[in-house]
Amino acid sequence: MAQSLQSLHTFALNNQCQHLVEIKNIEDLKKQPFLSPFCLLGEGSNTVFLSDFSGTVIKMATQGINITQRSEDYLIAVAAGENWHQLVCYLLDENIPGLENLALIPGTVGAAPVQNIGAYGVEIASFIEAVEYYDIASKTIKQLNAQQCQFGYRDSIFKHRLKNKAVITCVYLAIPKKWQGVLSYGPLQQLKAITPRAIFEHVIQTRQSKLPDPSTLPNAGSFFKNPIIDNTTLQQLLSRFKDLPHYKYNETHHKIAAGWLIDNAGLKGYKVAGIEVHQQQALVLINKGNSLGRDLTAMIKHIQIVIMQRFGVALEHEVRLIDSHGECHLNMEYQHEGP
Ligand code: FAD
Ligand code: EPU
Repeated sequence: MAQSLQSLHTFALNNQCQHLVEIKNIEDLKKQPFLSPFCLLGEGSNTVFLSDFSGTVIKMATQGINITQRSEDYLIAVAAGENWHQLVCYLLDENIPGLENLALIPGTVGAAPVQNIGAYGVEIASFIEAVEYYDIASKTIKQLNAQQCQFGYRDSIFKHRLKNKAVITCVYLAIPKKWQGVLSYGPLQQLKAITPRAIFEHVIQTRQSKLPDPSTLPNAGSFFKNPIIDNTTLQQLLSRFKDLPHYKYNETHHKIAAGWLIDNAGLKGYKVAGIEVHQQQALVLINKGNSLGRDLTAMIKHIQIVIMQRFGVALEHEVRLIDSHGECHLNMEYQHEGP
């Protein structure tokens, strides 16, 4: 039976899917035929359904947290359907700090390794001991260690070789007993007392000042990735735009701030129907209602074209876009991957 997807993704476009299945345990997964097309979903905070989806949405709702104490660290086994921020709060209350820089990131624990969530100088990759998944083809449970997950900036094997082949069932985090706060992100350096709780609160305060709460103003967080460009291109850009924020990525490349590019191009407040470039953070698109997938598509293309014309830089959307048959990529030229 058709189901509304509006409350199942935080951008809240008013579309439907043919079927919705909620997975509460591994047996539920084993019963799934995984007929194409299907779409795995957590809390939908990094997914936008551009149109009605012609297949089954499989929503992960498994629960459970198990803590094992080891000599140097705690091993935390967390079911995929647990809420990420609740986990951060729970561990802090249990006196197991470490994840505080990643506070208030929406979504499930199972989706967190998929794009290697990151914020304020920390990525989940540095805490992952292993990721357990249900292998759809063999109907068995398998595991990858952190290296095998091939984590990168907003990237992992689950967006490539294991896409639509693996359902993450459990994430194993190793949290060192010896806490070391990460203060590399500029605003955190102003903290007077350096405690896990102080970082947690500062991160929450900073996020709330820039990022709209999806429950009151639908959005999907940063819409585009921060582009990674080579050092020569960076020098050329800096000669024209000396304030362009940039961060070292590796010896040959730098990351530049997509939010600054969009802001500097004068696009804050730009609207297509009810979709708008957010005034407090230009990297975020908000949906004020009465908007369609094609309005969002037009908005994405407009931003990509303006940024390409002004800076010669290609913006790639971070958000996963789903059309009627599955995932699609709007990277300058529309591409649908096919079922
Ligand atoms: P969904 O959107 O439901 O799914 C995301 C992708 O993962 C989809 O492709 C889906 O198919 C796949 N997936 C989901 N669950 C599974 C599973 N169990 N097995 C296999 N594949 C699965 N991200 C950051 O990194 N840093 C931030 O600071 C940040 N801030 C945000 C702020 C706001 C206001 C919002 C709305 C989003 C933000 N995000 C951020 C993005 C988002 O929170 C993360 O990507 C999060 O991990 C998504 O979780 P989800 O459960 O909502 O995923
Ligand atoms: N900036 C502007 N104008 C804007 C927005 C940003 O000039 O409208 C400038 C800021 O002043 C700053 C720079 O751009 O100098 C970077 O901005 P910010 O610190 O807000 O971070 P971001 O690069 O926009 C990234 C992540 C966020 C993460 C924050 C904090 C990506 C795509 N986004 O945003 O992740 O929370 O850093 O670490 O990497 C997400 O992935 O959904 C997300 C919200």
